[in-house]
Amino acid sequence: MDIKEAVKEKYGQAATRQASCCDPITSNLYSSDQTTELPEEAVQASLGCGNPTALAKLQPGEIVLDLGSGGGIDVLLSAKRVAPGGKAYGLDMTDEMLALGRENQRKAGVTNVEFLKGEIENIPLPDNSVDVVISNCVINLSADKQQVLREAFRVLKPGGRFAVSDVVVRGSVPDEVKRSMELWIGCIAGALKDSEYISKLAKAGFDTIDIEPTRVYSIADARQFLAGQGMDVDAIAPQIENKFISAFIRAVKPSGGKACCGPACCS
Ligand SMILES: C[S@@+](CC[C@H](N)C(=O)[O-])C[C@H]1O[C@@H](n2cnc3c(N)ncnc32)[C@H](O)[C@@H]1O
Repeated sequence: MDIKEAVKEKYGQAATRQASCCDPITSNLYSSDQTTELPEEAVQASLGCGNPTALAKLQPGEIVLDLGSGGGIDVLLSAKRVAPGGKAYGLDMTDEMLALGRENQRKAGVTNVEFLKGEIENIPLPDNSVDVVISNCVINLSADKQQVLREAFRVLKPGGRFAVSDVVVRGSVPDEVKRSMELWIGCIAGALKDSEYISKLAKAGFDTIDIEPTRVYSIADARQFLAGQGMDVDAIAPQIENKFISAFIRAVKPSGGKACCGPACCS
């Protein structure tokens, strides 16, 4: 089975179950101010690893696109922030997740939302049509991350913001250990190193790139899982400690103004 089919199967099943209360990655990401404004089911369906809407500084009138919107928690929060006049799109490739997102939208009574079926590697929106691209723990699932970043750049308006939560690796980790930690975190296609994320964003055309850690995973969090994988946890602990993080990744699509070359073109 290829990566995309494995991801669809996993999240198709996840859409019909509730998130675990005690998962160190997906739990306690949202403030009570945020969760009380949403239906309980939308909060329970959260499978992200951060809270991009809290950090993206959304404004009324803006158009937001959530890559891999799942049960829709970030789409619904964004839609409320950009009202009046704005709109939030949720893009997902898994039918069960789209159905869950639409059901949560209905329960929330939010109308400035549209869920789109499609892949984040091939976004079904025109060039220069979105003010802010958000995403919550989805880009690490893609086997072609450069293509995702190219597509995010294409759909953003000049000056538009990329504001994403994702799992990132800091520094070097031996391959076998990296793979086991990724299995624990759920990064099916592998997490990028922070330096790779920055260079791929720059290659896509972004500037003002910044990676801010929001949660650091400790060996204690992963101990039970790694021991179950046959790993000598005490021996590998120093190679893991503080290296796997959830991060808020920001970048801007340049507004395309002419560089100043003299009095004529600066006027
Ligand atoms: C970890 S869940 C996160 C869901 C949501 N962002 C949240 O915070 O609850 C990943 C979601 O991304 C979707 N997804 C994964 N890879 C995708 C791709 N290549 N194109 C579109 N959707 C994708 C899955 O169907 C799933 O709903």
